[in-house]
Amino acid sequence: MTLDLARYHQDGFLIVPDVLDRATCQALIERAYAIIDAFDPAEHRSVFTTTEQVRTADDWFLGSGDQVRCFLEAEALDATGALIRPKRGAINKIGHNLHELDPVYAPVCQGPALAAIARGIGMDDPVLIQSMVIVKPALIGGEVVSHQDSTFLYTNPLSVTGLWIALEDATVDNGCLWALPGGHREALRQRFHRDPTSPTGVGFETFDPSPLPEDGFVPLEAAAGTVVVLHGQVPHRSGANRSTRSRCAFALHLIEAAAEYPRDNWLQRTTPAPRFCTQKQGSEQGA
Ligand code: FE2
Repeated sequence: MTLDLARYHQDGFLIVPDVLDRATCQALIERAYAIIDAFDPAEHRSVFTTTEQVRTADDWFLGSGDQVRCFLEAEALDATGALIRPKRGAINKIGHNLHELDPVYAPVCQGPALAAIARGIGMDDPVLIQSMVIVKPALIGGEVVSHQDSTFLYTNPLSVTGLWIALEDATVDNGCLWALPGGHREALRQRFHRDPTSPTGVGFETFDPSPLPEDGFVPLEAAAGTVVVLHGQVPHRSGANRSTRSRCAFALHLIEAAAEYPRDNWLQRTTPAPRFCTQKQGSEQGA
């Protein structure tokens, strides 16, 4: 696989088509719906929305770093908290440890295609720290407000890289990604972290109070099987999905093993996160 590194370093993102075939995408979608079918929203009525990130962080969310859990769309509930959508059309996302625990997602996450991209963009020893299916269901799929991924997966030095994979065709109509070309040269504005002094247990630490640019974003339409590589500081967002078809995507986030991962990052695990099975690690294991 040949990656256009000059383009990646210029833009802070890179569209890589045809990484996964259609059959693999379909298997991943079907698996996502199997997870949703097994989910009981009456037990865990946890909504995920980026427009109210601090207010909606709860134990179900904060404990999801090494679990596979479902989160509801805000518009799937009425004012009393009752579910008003069919369950398959009510889920915002499934996260955040499919890359390790799920028998269908883990082999894809840890397989050669994504490892080749990680190595190709120059990652040294990538750790698979977070994964999520972003369902973006028809009609009520929530918007994801503009952000930098390093805000949510902060390391020192900064190292997070996103592999955003379209499992269904993503278009402007059903809520594709938008990103700011060159925006990865923007300073990191904030860090989302655990804060025991906050009523919700989380908060934002601000490094730079200036707002992220709002203009100049371009749509990253992507056919199923396409990987969009996202630099950790590039501002990106996606709109609400008001169309009649879902925009299911899978996002895998990588960090460098050598980077410090703060103990107050929101996402914590009880065991070490997996790494790609690179040739280097394989030979070490065999020695
Ligand atoms: Fe993101």
